[in-house]
Amino acid sequence: MANILTVGIATLDIINSVTGYPAEDDEVRATHQRICRGGNATNTLAVLSQLGHNCAWAGVLANEPDARHIEIDLEHHQIDISAVIRQASGKVPTSYITHNTENGSRSIIHYRDLPEYPFSAFEQIELEQFDWLHFEGRNISETEKMLRLAKSKQPNLPCSIEIEKERDNIEQLFSLADMLLFSKPFAEERGFKDGPTLFNAIRSSTAKASLVCTWGNAGAWAQDSNSNTFHSPAFPPTRVLDTLGAGDTFNAGIIDACVKGFTLDEALERACRLAGIKCGHYGLDCFDSEKP
Ligand code: ADP
Ligand code: FRU
Repeated sequence: MANILTVGIATLDIINSVTGYPAEDDEVRATHQRICRGGNATNTLAVLSQLGHNCAWAGVLANEPDARHIEIDLEHHQIDISAVIRQASGKVPTSYITHNTENGSRSIIHYRDLPEYPFSAFEQIELEQFDWLHFEGRNISETEKMLRLAKSKQPNLPCSIEIEKERDNIEQLFSLADMLLFSKPFAEERGFKDGPTLFNAIRSSTAKASLVCTWGNAGAWAQDSNSNTFHSPAFPPTRVLDTLGAGDTFNAGIIDACVKGFTLDEALERACRLAGIKCGHYGLDCFDSEKP
C-alpha cells in the first residue's frame, strides 16, 4: 500500500445516457441520468483507493451546494482532502456529458469557473509522507514550480504528469517528471500517428522519464529511459458500456503497478487490463475486488 497525492480537479459530472448521439439542433430524451463526482485527478484516486492505497487530493472546491456531492464521494473513497483550497464564491467545475449507450462513447462540455490549485497551497503540503505524486498537465507555470519544489525537497519521490490537452508552454513540464502520460488527442493534435512517433520526437526534451501514451481501443504504448518501446493491446470487456474515465483508470493502473515494483511493460499491460474492466461497467466503483 502506498501514499499517493494527486494535484488536479474534481468535477460535478452530469451524465445523460442516449441511445445514439444526437444531431445538431435535435431534441432527444435521455434514457438515464447519473450525477456524480468526476475529474481526472480525483477519478484516478478513486480507483487507487479501491486498490488499497492511501490517497490525498490537492485541488479547489467552491462553497456551493454541488461541492457537497463531490465531498461525499471523496469521503466514500477515504480520500484525504486536508490540502484542498475553498473558494467563497464560484461554481465547482461542471461537465455536461452525453453518454451513447450504443458504443459507450462520451462527449463532454466543460464549464470551468474556479481558479486552479496554486503553488502557494502546494508548498504547505508535507511531501515526505508520499510515495508518488501525480499532476494534471494544466496551470503550467504553477505546476512547473510545484514539480521543481517536489524535486528539490524530495529528489527520489516519483512524479507523473498527465499531458491530456495542448496548453501554452506545456513542454516546460516534460523534463521535470519521472513519467509523462500522454493522450491520443494530444498526440494527434501534434501530428503524430501513434505513441512511438510521439516518443521519438520528444525524447530529447524529457530527460530520463518513462513515456506513456494511451490510444483508446488500440491500447497504449510506453517507452523507458533507454528508449525500449512497448505496446499493450486494449482488453475489451464483453460489452463496452462506459468509457468515461478510462484514461483516469489507466493512470491509476500504471501508478499502482509502478509503486508495486512492476517493470514498465508489465505496468502498461496491467493498466490496460484495469481500464478494460472499467469500460465494462458504469462509473468507477467496480474495483473493490480487483487486484490485477
Ligand atoms: P481517455 O479516457 O482519457 O479518453 P483512452 O480513450 O485513450 O483515454 O483510454 C485509456 C485506456 O483505456 C486505453 O489505453 C485502453 O487500455 C482502455 N480503453 C479505452 N477504450 C477502450 C475500449 N473501447 N475497450 C477496451 N479498452 C479501452
Ligand atoms: C473523465 C473526466 C470526467 C470529467 C472530465 C474532466 O476523464 O475526468 O470525470 O468531467 O474528464 O476533464
